[in-house]
Amino acid sequence: MKKVLFICLGNICRSPAAEGIMQSKIQDHSLDDKIQCDSAGTIGHHAGELPDSSMRKAARDRGYTLDSHSRKFEPSVDFAKFDYLIVMDDSNLQDIKILDKKLEFKSKLFKLTDFSSNKESTFVPDPYFGGQSGFDLVLDLVEDCTENLLLKIKDEL
Ligand code: 4NP
Repeated sequence: MKKVLFICLGNICRSPAAEGIMQSKIQDHSLDDKIQCDSAGTIGHHAGELPDSSMRKAARDRGYTLDSHSRKFEPSVDFAKFDYLIVMDDSNLQDIKILDKKLEFKSKLFKLTDFSSNKESTFVPDPYFGGQSGFDLVLDLVEDCTENLLLKIKDEL
C-alpha cells in the first residue's frame, strides 16, 4: 500500500481538493487496495471543519465531493506513516522542512507541481482570499498533477 498526504496551510481549500480528486482517480483506476490518500494543514485553525464552501462548490461543479475534515499535520505520526508528503507551495515546503529536524524524510517531500504536465506552474496558489477564478485554477492544477502522480505511483507498485 502506498500512502499519500497532501498538505497546505489551512487544509480547507487546496489539500482537501487534492485529496478528493486523487481519491476519485484512485477509484477510476481500481487502485483502492493499493493507494491511500489523506490531507492536512500546517496550521490547525480550521481543525474539524469541512472544506471551504467555495472550494466545495467549484469541485462539485466538476463532479467531485470534498467531505474530509481539516486537521493539522502531525510530525510524530505523518512523517513515518506516509510515502509521499505533497505540499502546495514554497511556504508549506519550508514549514514542513523545519519540522523534519533530522532531515530524515527529505526524500518523501514534493510540491504537487513537480508532477505538472506543463512544467510552467511552480506552486498551487492559495485561493482563500481571492475570487472564483482562484478555486478553478486550483482544480485545473490539481486535476493535471494528480493524474501524473497517480501514473507515477502505479508504475512503482
Ligand atoms: P488552504 O487555504 O491552505 O488552501 O486551505 C487557506 C485556508 C485558510 C487560511 C489560509 C489559507 N487561513 O488563513 O485561515
